[in-house]
Amino acid sequence: MTITVLYGTESGNSELIAQDINDRLQQDGHESEVFDLQDFEPESITADNFYIIVCSTHGEGELPNTALPFFEKFKDFAGDLTGVRYAMFGLGDTFYEETYSQGSEHLDRRFTELGATRVGDYGRHDASSWDLPSDVALEWLPGVLGAEAKGS
Ligand SMILES: Cc1cc2nc3c(=O)[nH]c(=O)nc-3n(C[C@H](O)[C@H](O)[C@H](O)COP(=O)(O)O)c2cc1C
Repeated sequence: MTITVLYGTESGNSELIAQDINDRLQQDGHESEVFDLQDFEPESITADNFYIIVCSTHGEGELPNTALPFFEKFKDFAGDLTGVRYAMFGLGDTFYEETYSQGSEHLDRRFTELGATRVGDYGRHDASSWDLPSDVALEWLPGVLGAEAKGS
């Protein structure tokens, strides 16, 4: 099984996290790949892979720039993602009380609507915290991989 790490970013944090997740997966012997969402097509999603999506929030609870072209296509995508498993890691800032971490949730809702199943806890990073984004993501990762291995 290949693990495909997808990221949507505006100022680069999600890209760094995605690269760090990909490096950790490969160090641990997994077959993995990483793509910016703007270079990825909904038609490429397959139940043979496991997806880890890392995406920030911009504007007023909206998706970041590099996720927008993908999301436009994903909104209109008519495929059936039943059997597809994915995990979601959202970036945001609790300074934006009303819209905290909502960018990733647009993607999450669409994956679910199309029949895909989210695995493990929904990961979050709050830019107002003192936590380093990759530290939070790499702490979150084993729980997700454990849930995926158990099929839950
Ligand atoms: C102009 C601007 C608007 C933002 N709007 C939101 C928001 O509505 N909700 C939120 O949770 N975070 C918001 N953020 C915080 C970003 O999601 C956060 O800084 C994140 O780490 C950026 O990740 P990225 O570099 O991958 O884009 C905003 C940041 C900026 C600069």
